[in-house]
Amino acid sequence: MKNLLVTGGAGFIGSNFTRFMLRMYPEYTVVVYDKLTYAGNLDNLKDVAEDFAGRYAFVQGDICDAGLVRATLLEHNVDTIVNFAAATHVDRSLMEPDEFIRTDVLGTYVLLEAVRELGLERYHQVSTDEVYGQVLEGRADETAPLHTRSPYSASKAGGDLLCLSYHASFDVPVTITRGSNNIGPYQYPEKVIPLFVTNAIDDLPLPLYGDGRQMRDYQYVLDHCEGLAVVLQRGRPGEIYNVGTAVETRNVDMARSILEILGKPQSLIQPVKDRPGHDRRYAIDVDKLGALGWESRHTFAEALEKTVRWYVENEWWWRPIKSGEHYQDYYKAQYAERLEGSSA
Ligand code: NAD
Ligand code: DAU
Repeated sequence: MKNLLVTGGAGFIGSNFTRFMLRMYPEYTVVVYDKLTYAGNLDNLKDVAEDFAGRYAFVQGDICDAGLVRATLLEHNVDTIVNFAAATHVDRSLMEPDEFIRTDVLGTYVLLEAVRELGLERYHQVSTDEVYGQVLEGRADETAPLHTRSPYSASKAGGDLLCLSYHASFDVPVTITRGSNNIGPYQYPEKVIPLFVTNAIDDLPLPLYGDGRQMRDYQYVLDHCEGLAVVLQRGRPGEIYNVGTAVETRNVDMARSILEILGKPQSLIQPVKDRPGHDRRYAIDVDKLGALGWESRHTFAEALEKTVRWYVENEWWWRPIKSGEHYQDYYKAQYAERLEGSSA
C-alpha cells in the first residue's frame, strides 16, 4: 500500500490524516478526493499542498460519481482507498436526512464497486461508535449489535454493512474502524467542542442540550489517525476495530473545562432544548486495536487543552466560516429559538 485515495480528505479528520500520513510515510502519495461541501475546506490542506507538493494531489469530486472515481483511481495508480467522505453532523441529519443516505450509503457502495472492479489492495471505511447506539452500561466491543437512532448513525451503519457484505460476497479486502468523538484542529464549528470554544472566545452562550449529562469519549484527532494507520498496516481484512480512549466525559463537565481553560465565566453555559433522540452515552471497548500495538496518547484534559489553544491561535481559520452566510443560516435554524426560550 502506498498510493492512497483519501476521500473526504478536505474535512476535519481527513485533512489531519492526510498530513499525518505524508509526514510519517515518505514513500506514500496521497490524492484527496472531496466534493467540498460546506464542511470541506481547502484551507485545511493549505500547508499540505505547500509542504508535500510532489506527493499530494487534490481532485474535486463526489464519491457518488462512479465515472470520476474510477478515472481518478486509474490516473493516480491508487492501491488503497481510505473513506472519510460523509455527511457527519447528527443535528443536520435530523433536518435533512437525504444527503446522509446518499453519501454515507450510496457513496460507500460506489467506492466498493470501484475497489472490486479494479482489484485494489485495500478499502478502509472510517466509521463511528454511533452505530452501536447509546450504551447505557458497560462498553460496546466490535461484536455488539447495531442500535442506531439517528439518520446519521443509521446511514453510517448502512455503509458498514455494505463493506462487510462486499468482503463476504466478493472477497473485497475491507477494514472498518469505529471511532469515538474526535477533537483537534480544523473541526467545523458546528460540532460541540469547536462551537463552544469559539463561542466562549466571543463571550457568546454555550448552548448545552438537555441536562448536559450525556457522555462522550473525546479523543485527540491524531490519536485516531495513528489508529487508522495501524489498521491499514496490521489490520485483517473483514475486521472491525474500535478507536477511542475508553474514558467518557459528561457534556457539562466538558463545557466547564473549556471555560476554565479560557478564563471565562461559567455563566456562559446555557441549558437549551434537547436534541431529539439524543444518545445519552457512547462507550467502546478498544482492546482489539490495543492488541495490534496501538494506544491513545492524549488524555481528555491534554486533548482539550491543545484543541482550545489551536482555536485561540487560529482565528484566521474559523472566523471566515462563522461569519459566512451558510453558517449563519444554520446557526439561526438550530439555535435561535433554543437560545431565546432557553432553560431546557
Ligand atoms: P467532516 O464533516 O469534517 O468532513 C467530511 C468531508 O467529506 C468534507 O470534506 C466533505 O466535503 C466531504 N464530503 C461530503 N460528502 C461528500 C461526497 N458525496 N463526496 C465527496 N466528498 C464528500 O467530517 P469528519 O468529522 O472529518 O468525519 C470524517 C469521517 O469520520 C466521517 O465518515 C465520519 O462519519 C467519521 N467519524 C467522525 C468522527 C468525529 O468525531 N468527527 C468520529 C468517528 C468517525
Ligand atoms: O461519536 C462519534 C461521532 O461524534 C461522529 O460519528 C460524528 O460525526 C460527530 O459529529 C460526533 O457526534 P456527536 O453527536 O456525539 O457530536 P456533537 O459534537 O454534535 O455533540 C457532542 C455532544 O454534545 C452530544 O451529546 C450533543 C451535545 N451538544 C452538541 C451541540 C452541537 C450540545 O450539548 N450542544 C450543542 O450545541
